[in-house]
This record gives sequence, structure tokens and C-alpha cells, in this order.
Amino acid sequence: MLEVKNLNVFYGVIHAVKGISFSVPDGKIVTLIGANGAGKSSTLKAIAGLVRPKGSILFKGKEINKLPAHEISKLGIALVPEGRRVFVNLTILENLRMGGFNKKLSELEPLYEKMFELFPILKERAYQKAGTLSGGEQQMLAIARALMSEPELLMLDEPSLGLAPLIVAEVFDILKELNNQGRTILLVEQNAAQALKLADYGYVLENGTIALEGEASGLLENDEVRKRYLGED
Ligand SMILES: Nc1ncnc2c1ncn2[C@@H]1O[C@H](COP(=O)(O)OP(=O)(O)OP(=O)(O)O)[C@@H](O)[C@H]1O
Ligand SMILES: [Mg+2]
Repeated sequence: MLEVKNLNVFYGVIHAVKGISFSVPDGKIVTLIGANGAGKSSTLKAIAGLVRPKGSILFKGKEINKLPAHEISKLGIALVPEGRRVFVNLTILENLRMGGFNKKLSELEPLYEKMFELFPILKERAYQKAGTLSGGEQQMLAIARALMSEPELLMLDEPSLGLAPLIVAEVFDILKELNNQGRTILLVEQNAAQALKLADYGYVLENGTIALEGEASGLLENDEVRKRYLGED
């Protein structure tokens, strides 16, 4: 579904992503793990069209690396950004409406219902300002907002950040459920253990390059990964 080749991201003189290549097959969960500053967010932003990369990004065979973000969104890619970034002064419903900006009015109602089914907590709070939600609830809202565009590829940037373990488990269960329904997922995480347990395939990013890749189950067993990313001796 997604084929990234020789991707480079520069911020002025800073070379954040250094020629990485990876792919996300249809229906799979792929994870990019790595330490702070490895280039994970930059990679997702490049795919979403939020930064201008060099290299090739093919989505369903179409080159998207020169397209503006709203065109990429229309093609079927959605990003749940790092730190959630919900609109705190808008209500839950208004946040969902923003996620469905490319939908017809008549399409919105059934989509709201779908989101409320997936995240019942959001239904109870539909008219409350998003800023009043807890961190975990805001993460759910951020995911629901992304899903409002009915993306074929859902990208998430560190959804577990700052959440209690129980809530992380809940969020990851939802990702599993979405994947079971056929959604393809590209997941960026520092929480390597959780991400590798969920994913089919993983890439380890170090200083803007791919240091290691493989089946997620294999990476979980890998001594180097265990030492460096799972905090084991
Ligand atoms: N807007 C920017 N301007 C300049 N440098 C940037 C910018 N955004 C990111 N960088 C730099 O690019 C590198 C990669 O950053 P990026 O945010 O992609 O890393 P990350 O893997 O997502 O890290 P984290 O786990 O901390 O979120 C870092 O060295 C960072 O300082
Ligand atoms: Mg990041």
C-alpha cells in the first residue's frame, strides 16, 4: 500500500531522515521504533505532506511526495499527530467534524455513530470541550478524528505517550480491532515492547537511518533490540 524509497528530510542544515526505505503492505501493522530524535515523526510528517522530503513515496502506486497535505488526506492517509493536538476549545463533536472535512454533510452522521460505537466515552461527552478530556480520552478523540476521513492507511505518532499502562493497553486493543476490520496501520512508538507485540513487521530507526528490520516477533527476541529498546540487560 505504501512504498517509501530513499526518503530524506532536511530542516535547514539538519539532516533528520537519511535515505530510508520501507514499505507497509495492505492490511498489515508496521511499526517504526527508535529513540528520541531518530527521525520517526519526521518520517510520518513527510508521508502526510507536512514537511517536504526528497525521495519517493508511493501510495497505492501513486507518487505523493509533491502533493499538499489535504490532497494526501483525500487519497486515504490520516495522521494522528504526536501529542494528540486535539482542538481543546472545540467540542468533541466539532473535533470529529474537522476530521471529516472532506465528507459530505449526509455522510457525517453515520460516521459519528461509528466513532461513538468504537469510543463510547466520546458519545457521553459529545458536547463537552475537548480540553476537558483526560489524556487517554484525548488520544481516543485524536484517533477518532483521524478515522473520520475513513483513511485506508492510519498513521499514529506515539499514541502511548504519557498514558497509564492500562490506557495504553486499551488504545492498542483498539488499534488491533481497527486492523482486524481491515485498516492498514503505520505506528511510530518509543514503547517498543507494546508496538512490537501489536505489529506484523518492524523497523528500528537510529539517527535517521534504518538500523534493523524484521518480523515484529523476531525483533522482540533480538538481543540488540532487547538491550537497547526494551531496557533489558
Ligand atoms: N522543525 C524542525 N526544525 C529543525 N530540526 C528539527 C525539526 N523537527 C525535527 N528536527 C530534528 O530532526 C531530528 C529528528 O526529529 P524527529 O522529531 O523526527 O524525531 P523522533 O524520532 O520523532 O523523536 P521523538 O521520539 O523525540 O519524538 C531531531 O534531531 C530533531 O531535532
Ligand atoms: Mg517524534
